[in-house]
Amino acid sequence: MRGATLATVLALCSMVESQKIWDIWQTTWNKNKLFSSLAPNPPLDFVAPGAIGDADILVDENTKYQTIVGFGGSLTDSSAQLMSNMKSVNPSNYWSLLNYLFNATEGANAAGLSYLRFPIGACDFSPKQYSYNDVSGDTGMKNVDANAAPSYTFSVLADILAVNPAIKIHVVPWSPPGWMKDSWTMNGGSLRSEMIDVYPTYLFRALQSLRSKGIEVYAVSIQNEPQYSNPTYPTASFTPSTEARIGIQLKSLMKSNGFPNVKLVGYDHNWDGAPGYATQLMQAGGDAFDGVSFHCYGGSVSQQGDFSRQYPNKEIYFTECSGTYGSDWWQDIKWYLDNIFIGSVERNAKAALMWNLALDPQGNPKYPGTSSCGGPGCRGIVTIGWDGTWSVNQEFYAMSHVSKATIPRDIGGPSGQRMKVNVGGSLSWALRVGAFVTGRLNSADWLRYSLVVLNWNDSTGGWNPQPVKATIEFRGMQAAYTFPVGVSTLWWYGE
Ligand SMILES: *[C@@H]1O[C@H](CO)[C@@H](O)[C@H](O)[C@H]1NC(C)=O
Ligand SMILES: *[C@@H]1O[C@H](CO)[C@@H](O)[C@H](O)[C@H]1NC(C)=O
Repeated sequence: MRGATLATVLALCSMVESQKIWDIWQTTWNKNKLFSSLAPNPPLDFVAPGAIGDADILVDENTKYQTIVGFGGSLTDSSAQLMSNMKSVNPSNYWSLLNYLFNATEGANAAGLSYLRFPIGACDFSPKQYSYNDVSGDTGMKNVDANAAPSYTFSVLADILAVNPAIKIHVVPWSPPGWMKDSWTMNGGSLRSEMIDVYPTYLFRALQSLRSKGIEVYAVSIQNEPQYSNPTYPTASFTPSTEARIGIQLKSLMKSNGFPNVKLVGYDHNWDGAPGYATQLMQAGGDAFDGVSFHCYGGSVSQQGDFSRQYPNKEIYFTECSGTYGSDWWQDIKWYLDNIFIGSVERNAKAALMWNLALDPQGNPKYPGTSSCGGPGCRGIVTIGWDGTWSVNQEFYAMSHVSKATIPRDIGGPSGQRMKVNVGGSLSWALRVGAFVTGRLNSADWLRYSLVVLNWNDSTGGWNPQPVKATIEFRGMQAAYTFPVGVSTLWWYGE
């Protein structure tokens, strides 16, 4: 009798105190699962700890880092053109794609992507050369107008915002207007020295023009890839001191004219420029810049880590990496997780993006005559055919898992914050793990804890994908799960 009572009390206690893993979103190397919700029934319990698994995931909720802003890609004119064409030829495909990419409702069969990079003027994925002010000699910047961009770009953006109004928009030019440059074209060259103090007004007026179209910008960068000039498409090289001079003036214009909260993000180029350009930019104008952004095409993510240790108070955004047709689906997913969606995030990135949101099966359409994305062509996050069909690529599967782990639990609520996590056990190397805690709108509601786990033990003694028996340690309790080779996102609640 007394034993039974004690057992009942213990059972009640553990029901109250134990957490449960309610859902697992999974993508496996063999595509048996493609961002699929497993919704284990019953949910997996955290219980009193026993022996650890071959890998042991230790979540340290007392050590927290940056708050995540979101994941996504660039809404280039080319991406918008394909999406807009799909809206005409197959509207139901169009809306189901927008929903699958951007719906941020908890539990929806959707990735909830929440961050878009948006070019100011033409880039290598535009139908023609244009800037927001092509009136040569207009140094008063009276004619800055976002309507220079194709109208479909704005109509697709409006549809995306209708699906996920919380999306953050990061604007960036690929080049100043051609008439301001020594090349007298947007293709290649650099800003003429007498235009340096005119250019901040161009960027500021671009923000105003976007606002007049109902678009509120989250962040602005001065120049995409400022170390690269290419005569076949809009590009421009800037020195760190010129970029700093423009940034200082732009920040001050924004602060005193209605854009005090817009982030100023510098650099926006490869990891290998972190110790050089990005550092010199911080030295020359660091106070004006909220942070810097990185691309993947040179150097390694460890250089982003070095920068982040040197400038712990500067925000970091990972804004571009492109897939290329012909690469291996599963090898790509491993690389993206290791270097970007776990690797860059664990080196303080608040957002991580791939390049074009959508391209066609040949990596088109492109800027006429550009040498960019030659060879087999660049792959978008989504491939869209001109017949209105779509399919998502490895870029999507890699980012959807960390997006799902960090989107706000409540619509309009906070997004995930990164926590410290360690992996022990004899197969600790076999798992790459990111850990996050997501706050609630109502402080009485329980926090959501989530993990993104890559099992990449796939080639011991030749191709040999091996599940990893793991344990998860949280607040002195333990859950067990065997991770297949692939990516898994799992979550539980905690008081
Ligand atoms: C988002 O997903 C939720 C849950 O599936 C659904 O109720 C809602 O209608 C979706 N929103 C849009 C804009 O499709
Ligand atoms: C990968 O997993 C298998 C099976 O769990 C294990 O025997 C092997 O040691 C692991 N590979 C390495 C290099 O540890």
